[in-house]
Amino acid sequence: MTLLEVEGLVKHFPVRGGVFGRTSGHVRAVDGLDFAVREGETVALVGESGCGKSTVGRLVLRLIEPTAGAVRFEGDDLLALDAEQMRARRRRLQVIFQDPYASLNPRMTVGAMLGEPLFLHRLVGTEAERRARVGELLELVGLRPEHARRYPHEFSGGQRQRLAIARALAVEPRLIVADEPVSALDVSIQAQVINLMKELQGRFGLAYIFISHDLAVVKHIADRIAVMYLGKIVETATTDELFRNPRHPYTRALLSAVPLPDPAAVRERALLEGDIPSAIAPPPGCRFHTRCRFARESCRHDVPVLADDGTGHATACPWWPEFPPAPMTVGAAARAEDKTRLDRLQAAFVKQEAT
Ligand SMILES: Nc1ncnc2c1ncn2[C@@H]1O[C@H](COP(=O)(O)OP(=O)(O)OP(=O)(O)O)[C@@H](O)[C@H]1O
Ligand code: SF4
Ligand SMILES: [Mg+2]
Repeated sequence: MTLLEVEGLVKHFPVRGGVFGRTSGHVRAVDGLDFAVREGETVALVGESGCGKSTVGRLVLRLIEPTAGAVRFEGDDLLALDAEQMRARRRRLQVIFQDPYASLNPRMTVGAMLGEPLFLHRLVGTEAERRARVGELLELVGLRPEHARRYPHEFSGGQRQRLAIARALAVEPRLIVADEPVSALDVSIQAQVINLMKELQGRFGLAYIFISHDLAVVKHIADRIAVMYLGKIVETATTDELFRNPRHPYTRALLSAVPLPDPAAVRERALLEGDIPSAIAPPPGCRFHTRCRFARESCRHDVPVLADDGTGHATACPWWPEFPPAPMTVGAAARAEDKTRLDRLQAAFVKQEAT
């Protein structure tokens, strides 16, 4: 069943300049996005810094208001809800941020922090019930009930992210927007937190919007991936399909930076050249044309549509069938530091699975 549906989502931030602070333009952070999240699934949003991933997350949570478009959650148009109705909905829609320390109140004990939403949403009636539920939540995320007496600074980075997960879980959400939840953590800890998120998903039927710039991380948790470039989705497919048959030149370039686990296999290194153009004045036509190695004249003015091939694999480039298949075994060797990082990440996952 569809849990969340996003249609024609647009967010333009005004840019103020000059002595009078007049609006001199707009940052087109999100520029016409459609996607859906089904009950219990993980949809990843990936792309380089500034492509609009966090803005999508904030729009879905209604922390900011869109310029245009619709967000439907459990069948309701979120944008039509008043503040009171939105408060009730917010319980079912939670968020985890990259930096758990910044999102946890340093002056509150863990018990008070986890207990607060329980009282607020009347999920517990008495102090004893609250204590019991807090203990249960801590155990769910791999911590101990006695940790309730501690303060956030007494925990490690990974443990703090576990606390942030416990706080999101406290109110029994259906969907969690996780914005770079493991990007600040060491790779071995990344694997632990991702495995925890997967385990909790299985247990409670949670859905995630998993925001990340790191395809290697996303591979382990996402059912589907949407690749974003300058405020638009350029390709979307199931995770297996996207890794096996990347079509869009941008996806291919992103993937070529993800090292392969097999030392004998070397992937094409279609390096991304040049900087990301400004989101204030994105290139006309295909927004990727200034960096695309397959670009042709018409790409400068024809805007490609995100076209689904009927299998759920959609690509915003009409020319992909003409490209040579993304070679997985030719090209330059993977960079040594990428290789080591992936080895560590994978070793950490294997270790997790064994325990
Ligand atoms: N409040 C704001 N006012 C003006 N511009 C903004 C605002 N928030 C975001 N932007 C701009 O919108 C664009 C998208 O930003 P966003 O934070 O969504 O990107 P992102 O994909 O999450 O990047 P990162 O990977 O660095 O977190 C950027 O150009 C950013 O500078
Ligand atoms: S439409 Fe043109 S510029 Fe855009 S990705 Fe396809 S080939 Fe490249
Ligand atoms: Mg972001």
